[in-house]
Amino acid sequence: MKKIIHLSDLHIGFSDMLERFEHIIKMINSLKQPANNYIIVITGDLVERGSSKNYEDAFECIDTLKQFGYNVLCVPGNHDYCKFLFHWKKYVKKFKETYFKDPKIEYPKKDIIEYENDDTNKKEKVAFLGLDSMAEELHFHDSLWANGEIGKEQLKRLDDLLKSEEIKKCSYTVVYLHHHPFDPIHDTHMLKDSSDLCNVLESHKIDALLFGHNHHGKKWNGMLNIPRCYDGGTSTRKQNAKCEHRVIDLSRNARFDYDGDFLRGFEILT
Ligand SMILES: [Fe+2]
Ligand SMILES: [Fe+2]
Repeated sequence: MKKIIHLSDLHIGFSDMLERFEHIIKMINSLKQPANNYIIVITGDLVERGSSKNYEDAFECIDTLKQFGYNVLCVPGNHDYCKFLFHWKKYVKKFKETYFKDPKIEYPKKDIIEYENDDTNKKEKVAFLGLDSMAEELHFHDSLWANGEIGKEQLKRLDDLLKSEEIKKCSYTVVYLHHHPFDPIHDTHMLKDSSDLCNVLESHKIDALLFGHNHHGKKWNGMLNIPRCYDGGTSTRKQNAKCEHRVIDLSRNARFDYDGDFLRGFEILT
């Protein structure tokens, strides 16, 4: 069974986050082999600000992981579309061109990945559906807060995909996005269409919902009726927030998921 490594909120460009992510890459490559057994899912905020330098650095890091043989999936976060404190529409295309090499890709981004079932030796599939939770967050006034909004059109496409035979035939389905689907305490950081998203998700079989944005570590695990509902925190520990680098095996009970702790050995000054 292929395993998932969930990373989030790298914030490359802020302080020494690039060096921290380079350390994470080194650790993943030395500890998690063979590389093609792992799918790395990065739930947004790859960069701190949308400068060309930050985008190039993030691309090079992801490309290094791909060259090592890891499958890497990512979606945009608010910081990926941000420059001078505002969000800009031009980054929608730039993000797709940089990381997908295809500006026409539509969200939810669908990836169907085949693997061999360890028990039956038969080929099975896992579906990954990546959402752009910045899709309806690109107006001037939206930059004041950081809620995120998926929008009705994208949610309809998500619902249609989840109903499709192609996805239903997959053994597992993973939905991933940047913004927090729920946070009753800090509602300026909760998705504006949280309840619409939850309505779609609750009417289908979802095996994992992965997200980031709020750096609360594992505080929000276990929400919704989904076996894995994981907040990735900030994997580079921006401003020394706590996080887990979750390693997930969908074929086992969620209690066997664990923290890969890929920043171990990196000196983080507190
Ligand atoms: Fe973030
Ligand atoms: Fe964010």
